Amino acid sequence: MYQTLLTNNDKGIFTITINRPDKLNALNKKVIEELAAVINDVYADPAIQSVIITGSGSKAFVAGADISEFSTLNSRGGRDLAERGQTLVFDKIENCPKPFIAAVNGFALGGGCELAMACHFRVASDNAKFGQPEVNLGLIPGYGGTQRLARLIGKGRAMELLMTGALIDAKAALDYGLVNYVVPQTGLLAKTKELAELINSKAPLAIAGCINAVNAAFDKSKNGYEVEISTFGNLFDTEDAKEGAAAFMEKRKPLFSGR
Ligand code: COA
Repeated sequence: MYQTLLTNNDKGIFTITINRPDKLNALNKKVIEELAAVINDVYADPAIQSVIITGSGSKAFVAGADISEFSTLNSRGGRDLAERGQTLVFDKIENCPKPFIAAVNGFALGGGCELAMACHFRVASDNAKFGQPEVNLGLIPGYGGTQRLARLIGKGRAMELLMTGALIDAKAALDYGLVNYVVPQTGLLAKTKELAELINSKAPLAIAGCINAVNAAFDKSKNGYEVEISTFGNLFDTEDAKEGAAAFMEKRKPLFSGR
């Protein structure tokens, strides 16, 4: 169905694999277009509860935007590339009410690091490497990297990584809080799926509420505390909140319906 992506739905856990291993899964226009389409499906398809994004092969998650497409760009084209990617892919992932987890299986550079950072959290294999090497090309990140890196690892560390273009290994990424776990590559998808399964066992509207309220903390146009208060309140009108409390009182496991 897609030229550059593989997709698979395993009991509500939807895996998107960026599949250009010979180009280290670099994000060309086609990949961005197909990611935009598949993310729209994720929003719309009730059979998808959570999403894992990973890269094909054992070497790279995504080694960045496709540099071979840069030579024809001028300022207008560069701006459009960044804006389209941010609007149709990166912001859509960050704001999706369903959780996105990045399973980082190798190089996550430039747009690859940005793609991992747009996800709600990240699990890395022990061979993963992260960086924003755009300064080596005379550029800066264009898919949200300057903003999300500073939020995730702090301003000083982000400034250093952005200005040096240096790569960090999985252990440093764990120390920095850029990833939540580092696991052997053979166990990467299993660990990520285990986390997705645990999340999928909770009430979907509560999961959406967590994403929305945490994101509000980083949105200058919103008061995160007010978002939390109204989301907390609204959830009391859901069937799942009634089921959750009833199940607790009856000492049984809740059966959530997503309503
Ligand atoms: N855009 C386009 N093609 C890319 C790419 C990118 N971002 N990253 C890797 N590739 C291609 C290479 O050109 C090469 O293609 P070829 O076999 O047709 O020559 C192939 O993927 C394999 O990469 P190669 O560089 O040979 O692998 P390596 O192990 O020697 O080095 C990296 C791996 C990741 C260090 C190196 O590929 C690299 O620096 N990539 C660019 C990273 C970058 O600057 N990203 C930010 C872009 S804004």
